[in-house]
Amino acid sequence: MPSDPSPSKIRHFLKLSDFSADELRGLVTRASGLKQDRHSGERPLAGRTLAMLFGKSSTRTRVSFEVAMAQLGGHALFLSPRDIQLGRGEPLADTARVLSSMCDGILIRNDSQSEQEQVARASAVPVINGLSERHHPCQLLADLLTFFESRGDIQGRVVAWLGDGNNVCHSWIEAARLFEFTLRIACPAGHDPDAALVTAAGRRVKIVRDPQAAAERADLIVTDVWTSMGQEAEKVRRHGALAPFQVNRTLMNLAKADALFMHCLPAHRGEEVTAEVMDGPQSVVWQEAENRLHAQKALLLFLLRPQP
Ligand code: CP
Ligand code: NVA
Repeated sequence: MPSDPSPSKIRHFLKLSDFSADELRGLVTRASGLKQDRHSGERPLAGRTLAMLFGKSSTRTRVSFEVAMAQLGGHALFLSPRDIQLGRGEPLADTARVLSSMCDGILIRNDSQSEQEQVARASAVPVINGLSERHHPCQLLADLLTFFESRGDIQGRVVAWLGDGNNVCHSWIEAARLFEFTLRIACPAGHDPDAALVTAAGRRVKIVRDPQAAAERADLIVTDVWTSMGQEAEKVRRHGALAPFQVNRTLMNLAKADALFMHCLPAHRGEEVTAEVMDGPQSVVWQEAENRLHAQKALLLFLLRPQP
């Protein structure tokens, strides 16, 4: 038995840039097709099992992966650290090694990208990041699908990110580089996204302090909560700093007339977005949430289906 059980040919999806631009485009196309054929009754993942380690709360990620596995004929196991030996101190790498000896894939949501990388190293099956403090790649698959089906190719478009330079923002930065669109990030100083990710994206990503300048003639406005999971102690300070970056009607009016509004959800109406925008005609947040299911299916088929 080799000391590292993760053969090099095993693919993991810990961040968007783990896949090539062509592979990501292929996933978006596949997801769109799966959405059309949702009642096909085909069971390509029959007998396959996905272990889902959730160290943080989730509605969309948990349900979409669980339903995706069921609809594709496989099975998903929801594993809270509280209920398994991980919560009593069994090392994460040992847990990963055991899970990967019985399951065909591992989904993990926690607050440590480096721990997820540790799981991937210990795993003999694909590992999927269901959100870490640094990235949320599965969210971007759904967001890109939503843009493509609403407005066509995102290449050459202008996207404005308003608010905290957080995990979802980081995945948007990687998307800008891989899908070749412009991402303007309006965030207050002290809430910037990771500088190395911004640098790697080159001219595709610009930090714009002024929310109005970011929104000007944009094709899409995106935001997220001001206080991500695990940051609750900073809530008051964060709200003070981020209040000027709220997405409201005035801001949407600066974007193109047919601009879309996206939010990964859960949202806080009256904070990062007004109810008027969130529930208004330019908002595609419900389509975006449903698309988690179709995008997840495409990802699971790519990673878990036995290759011929
Ligand atoms: N957008 C998203 O990941 O939602 P959940 O936290 O509900 O999974
Ligand atoms: N930035 C948010 C996203 C939730 C889906 C968080 O990490 O809590």
